[in-house]
Amino acid sequence: MKNKKILVLLLVLAMVFSFAACGESADNGDADKDNGAADKNTEIPTYIAATEPTFPPFDTTDEDGNIVGFDMDLMNAIGEDQGFKVKYKAFEFDALIPTVQAGNAEIITAGMNAEDPERQAKVDFSNTYYDSGLVVIVKEDNNTIKGIDDLTKDMKVASQIGTTGADKVNELHDDGKIKEAVILNGFDTCMLQLINGDVSAVIIDQPVGKTYLKKQPGKCKIVGDVLNAESYGFAVKKGNKELLDKINTGLQNMIDNGTYDELFTKWFEGEE
Ligand code: ARG
Repeated sequence: MKNKKILVLLLVLAMVFSFAACGESADNGDADKDNGAADKNTEIPTYIAATEPTFPPFDTTDEDGNIVGFDMDLMNAIGEDQGFKVKYKAFEFDALIPTVQAGNAEIITAGMNAEDPERQAKVDFSNTYYDSGLVVIVKEDNNTIKGIDDLTKDMKVASQIGTTGADKVNELHDDGKIKEAVILNGFDTCMLQLINGDVSAVIIDQPVGKTYLKKQPGKCKIVGDVLNAESYGFAVKKGNKELLDKINTGLQNMIDNGTYDELFTKWFEGEE
C-alpha cells in the first residue's frame, strides 16, 4: 500500500513538472515568435550596389582594397537616412547595367551619366547629384595637342569601356579623326598607357582626370575645353519605384542638411 502511495505521488510530481516545462517552452515559443516578429519589423535591408572602382574620387579602393569614394559615402548616408544598408561590389563598367537588370545588384553607384537615353531605357535613374563633363588629357611634355581638335589620324586615344568617354573616342575613330580607339577596362590602365607613351591622349571625366593628375603630379595635363556636359545619377532596376523614391528622398535630405557639402569637401577638398 505504501509503495502504491509513493508511486502515485511520483506520477503526480512528474505530471506537474511536465506541464510546467510545456508552459515554459510555449512562453519561449511565444517569446521567439515575438522576437521573430520584432526582428522582421526592425530588420534593416542590405542592398548590393554595383560600381567600377577606377574612378576616383567617386569610386575607388583604399589601401586595404575596400571600395570607397564620394558615391559610397553619399549612398551610405542616404541609406542611414532611409533605413537601408549598402554592400558594394566591383564589376566592369559595361556590366553594371546588365547586373542590375538581372537582379544581381539593386543599385548602381558609379558616377554614371543619367542623361543617356539608351541607359534610361534600361534602368531608372535617381535625381542627379553631380554635374560633370569630359576632358582630354595628354602627357605634360606634349605641346602639340591643345584640345580635341588637335587629335590626328596617326594618334591612338584611350578611354574606359562602356563610358561616355569611350563613346567620344569611338566617334572620333569612326569619323576618321584618330588612328585607333583604345578601349580599356579601367581608367587606371588608360592613364598608365598615356604615361608610358602607348597612347597620345585619354578622354575622361574632368573631376576624375584632375584626381589622377593629383596622384601623379607633373606627368600629365588637361588640355582644351570641357566636352559633353553630363550629370551623374544613381540607378536602380526599371520599375523599382520604392527604392528609387527612398534614394531621391534621402539625397534631397542630405543636400538640405549639409551632409552633401561635407562629403564634397572631404572628397574634392572643396574644389569647385
Ligand atoms: N560618367 C561616365 C559615364 O557615365 C564615366 C563613368 C565611369 N564610372 C566608373 N565608376 N568607372 O559613362
